[in-house]
Amino acid sequence: MKSIILYTTRYGCTAEVAKQIQGKLASDCKSINIVTERVPSLDPFDNIILGGSIYIGKIQKELTSFAISNLKELLSKNIGLYLCAGAPQEEELNKELLGAFPKELFEHAIAKDVLGYAFTFEKMRFLDRFIMKKIKGDVVSTTKYFDERIARFTQNFTVSKS
Ligand SMILES: Cc1cc2nc3c(=O)[nH]c(=O)nc-3n(C[C@H](O)[C@H](O)[C@H](O)COP(=O)(O)O)c2cc1C
Repeated sequence: MKSIILYTTRYGCTAEVAKQIQGKLASDCKSINIVTERVPSLDPFDNIILGGSIYIGKIQKELTSFAISNLKELLSKNIGLYLCAGAPQEEELNKELLGAFPKELFEHAIAKDVLGYAFTFEKMRFLDRFIMKKIKGDVVSTTKYFDERIARFTQNFTVSKS
């Protein structure tokens, strides 16, 4: 089974999670930043995983456009959807996940979850640092990958889907 992870990221957290998923998938898998790299034809891929991160309640517009433009083809594949998002409440994260992708694709996906977050103040541009300091109340960098969820997410593509 051939797999591809297509992601968008601002500071690298979503890319790191893509790498972790890639490492766990037994099948042939590549990962592509859809903003900085060329996206290949989706035709040869059985499993397609889309990942993005949330800023002020929204996923990157490039991922939304990609999902909408390729919806028909995506609906013919095994789909996984993930977010990196740092809202402290599970309810908020679920809402963000639900709103991040087209409804049809969300319902079609065999795996969907929030898989971690990183607040890396050293990397943040001024405005992001300012906003995050206000929200978080400090400037302590924090990274959390949800290992169990990443394992569960990945399992959907390795069990009974080949
Ligand atoms: C300015 C700013 C705004 C953010 N807004 C949200 C938000 O509305 N909801 C949320 O869950 N996380 C929010 N986050 C957290 C990011 O989603 C989180 O840091 C994520 O890991 C970033 O991933 P990336 O490095 O791949 O872009 C925000 C982070 C920053 C810096």
